[in-house]
Amino acid sequence: MSEGTRRPIIAGNWKMHHTHLEAIQVVQKLSYRLDRSDYERVEVVVCPTFTSLRSVQTVLESDRIPIALGAQDVHWEEKGAFTGEVSPTMLAKLNVSFVIVGHSERRQLFGETDETVNRKVKAVLAHGMTPIVCVGETLEEREAGETAAKVDGQVRGAFEGVKAADVAATVVAYEPIWAIGTGRTATPGDADETIGVIRGTLRDLFGGPTSSAVRIQYGGSVNPGNIADLMAMPEIDGALVGGASLDPDDFARIVRYGA
Ligand code: 13P
Repeated sequence: MSEGTRRPIIAGNWKMHHTHLEAIQVVQKLSYRLDRSDYERVEVVVCPTFTSLRSVQTVLESDRIPIALGAQDVHWEEKGAFTGEVSPTMLAKLNVSFVIVGHSERRQLFGETDETVNRKVKAVLAHGMTPIVCVGETLEEREAGETAAKVDGQVRGAFEGVKAADVAATVVAYEPIWAIGTGRTATPGDADETIGVIRGTLRDLFGGPTSSAVRIQYGGSVNPGNIADLMAMPEIDGALVGGASLDPDDFARIVRYGA
């Protein structure tokens, strides 16, 4: 696949927001604001909390809304004594299509490592779902000129031992940690450059055809006012949206690149 043919993917990461009752309302409102032409242009994904997945799934399927369902995390084991965890089978049974893996909040607050991210990536793929693998540098790392080395290492760790054919179908999200929830966005040029680094690592590991097929999103303070400039960049294939995805009006405008 050559550049420019990757289908844009815009995903809302609702994080720990919205009860299942609120989630139902938000996804219904979002569906009223989007139409067929939006879904043809862009793959739209919502990632509610675990407790809302079943409710949102029911709304999407009963109203035939072509929004894909995503989860925010997963455990790599199939089942067992892992109190509080959710298995890939449980998600697959809910028709979850995407699973966010290795979000910086999971890495920073809940001890995720490149190794656990790698296990989760493999588990998600083994169950026919698509991982959205998150990578990104801290402010200190950026200021020390370590951005490229950081994301390169995270990509190598996440995809270690994964087959090229599986990698081609995955999504990577570049989320500079200093841009998450801060109102500070990476400039489109900086985001594009780092996403180019990520694609270069994937090319190095898996070859050109695979790296050209992987969709790489930008995440970090994306909103209706900055999405168009981000999406205009050649390497940016979509967005992983936090705060602005909670509001169906804002999220619909982001899906429409600000219009
Ligand atoms: P914000 O859009 O709120 O900055 O969050 C980005 C993010 O972490 C998405 O996963």
